[in-house]
Amino acid sequence: MIVLGIESSCDETAASVVMDGREVRSSVVASQYELHEEFGGVVPEIASRAHEQHILPVVRDAIAQAGIEQSEIDLIAVGHRPGLIGSLLVGLSAAKAMSWSLGVPMVGVDHVHAHLYAGMLGREEPQYPALGLVISGGHTSIYEVRSALKVKRLGSTIDDAIGEAFDKVAAILGLGHPGGPKLDALAAEPGANDRAFDFPVSRLSKDSLDFSYSGLKTAVLYEAKGKPAPPALRGKPPLPKPEVPELTHERMRDIAASFQRAAVRALTIKLGRAIERVEGCRTLIVGGGVSANSLARREMQRFCDEHGLELIIPQMGYCVDNAAMIAGLGDRLHASGQVDDLNLSAVPTTGC
Ligand code: KG4
Ligand code: ZN
Repeated sequence: MIVLGIESSCDETAASVVMDGREVRSSVVASQYELHEEFGGVVPEIASRAHEQHILPVVRDAIAQAGIEQSEIDLIAVGHRPGLIGSLLVGLSAAKAMSWSLGVPMVGVDHVHAHLYAGMLGREEPQYPALGLVISGGHTSIYEVRSALKVKRLGSTIDDAIGEAFDKVAAILGLGHPGGPKLDALAAEPGANDRAFDFPVSRLSKDSLDFSYSGLKTAVLYEAKGKPAPPALRGKPPLPKPEVPELTHERMRDIAASFQRAAVRALTIKLGRAIERVEGCRTLIVGGGVSANSLARREMQRFCDEHGLELIIPQMGYCVDNAAMIAGLGDRLHASGQVDDLNLSAVPTTGC
């Protein structure tokens, strides 16, 4: 089964050819980082225009790199939720046009669910039941996974996603967009002290499997820029200047490392609670952009070693948004009987 995957939910235009749901023959990703950098985040209108420019060359490249003819494609899989509507519509329209013109079926894939599938590319089926963890720029959720297609959400963030917190903290430190990888590199510099600042690790209520990252982000903001003046003094000059030490490179490095430690610690705390709810859990499946984070990868492995689980985590190329995960999961959905028609719509929220 030769599947063409198409992904355009946010600021990456991607296409990929995957055989039998596992073997990646090509994976092409066109990023738009530079276009959004000056705005400090993704601008939806700019993103959809860039998708329009990239989509056909990216699809052509993916087919050419896979060494196949367009006529050999058996199925089109497309990420149709969640995401920016204007962005999703570009990939979805391309997928519909190809499905119709080639006369092959099309399946719509949930992008968040696909992040959980990314670790299964290039390897055999994991053992179930499993715990699932999606850590990305838009989502932070824990799942009970009974099979590649049977996924039940147990908890998710009540405010910021973990990747969003990485990006915002990187912006506070002036590291640029997207901040996650830059912050990861800064925290890994020799001499970085991850205990320099005691940033809060959100636990929420005793049994909660939800996450919260806004308090951690604010704690970093206050540490870097100083606390705002107490309300009673606001607007009454002279406003006391927040006293903050200069943001030297050394201080930034320690803030980055301490933030990262707190952010990742919240994940292992919730996984520790979640494993109690999944009897006979055999595997931990992790996905999403933040699964590229060096500390997160080490801590996930440590968690698995402690609990006797096998860790399934994507190869570096399949952590952030890509179309191979869409094609792979699309193959599985099609095998289970799903076929969508030209009425398939773009949906802003996840169903996962
Ligand atoms: O999965 P993804 O590409 O997009 C969404 O579905 O949201 O994730 C992007 C997120 C961004 O917030 C980015 O900063 C973060 O993943 N990210 C990282 C690293 N690489 C990407 N965060 C921390 N450390 C990294 N090495
Ligand atoms: Zn994603």
